[in-house]
Amino acid sequence: MAEETLHLGQTLHFEADPFAAGPSAARHDSAGAILVAGGRIRALGSAASLRAAHPRARVVDHGQALLTAGFVDAHVHYPQTRIIASWGKRLIDWLNSYTFPEEMRLADPAYARAVAEDYLDLVLAQGTTTVCSYATIHPGSVDAIFEAAEARGMRVLAGKTCMDRNAPEGLRDTAQSAYDDSKALLDRWHGCGRASYVITPRFSPTSTPEQLSALGALWAEHPDCLMQTHLSEQLDEITWVRSLFPQARDYLDTYEAHGLLGPNGLYGHAIHLDPREIDRLSEVGAALVHCPTSNSFIGSGLFDMAGLTARGLRVGLATDTGGGSSFSMLRTMAAAYEIGQLRGTPLHASQLIWLATRGSARALRLDDRIGNLAPGMEADFIALDLASTPAIAQRAARAEDIWEALFATIMMGDDRAIAGTWVAGQRTSPAAS
Ligand code: GUN
Ligand code: ZN
Repeated sequence: MAEETLHLGQTLHFEADPFAAGPSAARHDSAGAILVAGGRIRALGSAASLRAAHPRARVVDHGQALLTAGFVDAHVHYPQTRIIASWGKRLIDWLNSYTFPEEMRLADPAYARAVAEDYLDLVLAQGTTTVCSYATIHPGSVDAIFEAAEARGMRVLAGKTCMDRNAPEGLRDTAQSAYDDSKALLDRWHGCGRASYVITPRFSPTSTPEQLSALGALWAEHPDCLMQTHLSEQLDEITWVRSLFPQARDYLDTYEAHGLLGPNGLYGHAIHLDPREIDRLSEVGAALVHCPTSNSFIGSGLFDMAGLTARGLRVGLATDTGGGSSFSMLRTMAAAYEIGQLRGTPLHASQLIWLATRGSARALRLDDRIGNLAPGMEADFIALDLASTPAIAQRAARAEDIWEALFATIMMGDDRAIAGTWVAGQRTSPAAS
């Protein structure tokens, strides 16, 4: 039998969706424990009961730290790691000035490998255990992120970013090569260990209708795969889409007309949606991804979390590295809170932490494996120090319940709050132990 390890600390897990059930959807135990063996969570309960039931388990005591599921970042561009926090541009200029020149550099597999490794180490230190990433058009950039993830034991989703127009020479494929390369990568990686391949047309402006159709055909052949793209992020982008696709009813229709709308579709940003688009997204059961630091950093707009979750849409939370201005899902939760405030609908701490864990896992259709502490789930979890800086500690000392304490760390915390990160039961950050 695999060695059992009993992690003691405060524990937080979800039994329901806090957007539907309120904060009571979460369960907090101030003297809890999780039993881990063979990379999975075997039991969750009180420290006293699990100690008694598993007297031979190795015990790791995390004191007052809060044990919770590792963060799941549902939309990132790992190739943009080196250009995060680039100044002063809005979406289209930002892509042309900073993003495309950097993505060009990942033609070099050694560079792609170095960026992928740095990126995953950075996010593990921030408590993120799963990411869903865009790569670049280069197949080697997909191998790089999956190989780096495999070396760290991480569950990672990624795909080759396809573009056959409105991108510079050297960063364009074709309809046929996008299909062929994506198919070969899907065959190589999808379901290999903890890897999932995601079919990835960047967005309608950088794909011809032929390329969108080719990727729609690939998705129809592999409907269990996710498909990720961008939707209605900025008003200028929407105007451009309208001119490129004069027949389309709206932005979403440019995807639907080419077989790229479905229940396993992940639509990033989704800020400026028409009522028809919201109706269609909810009819087909698609998922949206909220990227709040990116939406303010690039000046995109205010995502309607309250309205869209009320329509029953699945919503994930994401940094959108490097359009987003942070690798941290804590910072991303804080930004989601602030955007909720600007819309008059503040999110509760239980909703914020749910979005960063189980909500994102559900958007990625992985909520049966990751994103929660529960028996049978993969043991991807973190220990959060709720008093990681003097400023946070003095606020947490005044907290009257776990939500007040956690909210201070959500709003003011950074990687110093991540006391440890475990992937499939193995400690990856700050150091293996
Ligand atoms: N739309 C198309 N590509 C991108 C990208 O790389 N980042 C963001 N934020 N939006 C995009
Ligand atoms: Zn993006």
